[in-house]
Amino acid sequence: MFYKTDANNHGFPHDPFKAIVTPRPIGWIGSVDKDGVANLAPHSYFNAISDNPYFVIFGSITYKDTVRNIEETGDFTCSLVSEDLFDKMNSSSVPVDPKIDEFNLAGIKKEPGKLVKSSFVKGCTAALECKLWKTIDIPGSDRSKLTGNYSIIGEVIGIHINDEYIEDGMFNTKKVRPIARLGYMDYGVVGEENIFSKNRPKLGKDGKLESVKKWDGVYR
Ligand SMILES: Cc1cc2nc3c(=O)[nH]c(=O)nc-3n(C[C@H](O)[C@H](O)[C@H](O)COP(=O)(O)O)c2cc1C
Repeated sequence: MFYKTDANNHGFPHDPFKAIVTPRPIGWIGSVDKDGVANLAPHSYFNAISDNPYFVIFGSITYKDTVRNIEETGDFTCSLVSEDLFDKMNSSSVPVDPKIDEFNLAGIKKEPGKLVKSSFVKGCTAALECKLWKTIDIPGSDRSKLTGNYSIIGEVIGIHINDEYIEDGMFNTKKVRPIARLGYMDYGVVGEENIFSKNRPKLGKDGKLESVKKWDGVYR
């Protein structure tokens, strides 16, 4: 099948887009408003987009408290969501009045940022401290009507790693068990049972692809 998105005539009971572009990591975005009220909200339109310096992006569907806070105060945190924190993450997504602190609402302890005003989730496996670089209004956005989509791009200026998850100098994803957002109300867990390692091939002198047996730390 094929459908044009302007007509959105896929004919299904639910929009399949999010189930197609999957799995997505969840950036659990911590922010603070100009009066110091903390905010926490999960975003699965989220990913890392660059190295050296590191930048991350997330998308807000409509102009929500998170975006307004970040534009007001200039920073945010991304706590990464692991299996053990799933219920707390889910609880923090409930839409509430801007003056309600979702950390408190969902029973989540705050860890203050070292370089930013925003807090992050105490006990998470890792968290990023980010400085706002740019917000981009995606076509169709109209701030006065609180509609549309907003992309927030931040520079990662500090990284917290929970020491419990460091093993042999590496961040142990098998132990972390990150949550992946799928479509509809579905989620996945990345764990030992579905992680595999495979080196990228390299080009040999004869112009043919050569497999790399042992990883030498180079991303080819
Ligand atoms: C797993 C998950 C992922 C979500 N991803 C997004 C997202 O990418 N963008 C978005 O605008 N809302 C997303 N939401 C909904 C927001 O978390 C929710 O609207 C929240 O109340 C926004 O908080 P705020 O108004 O304090 O900014 C997601 C919710 C869940 C549970």
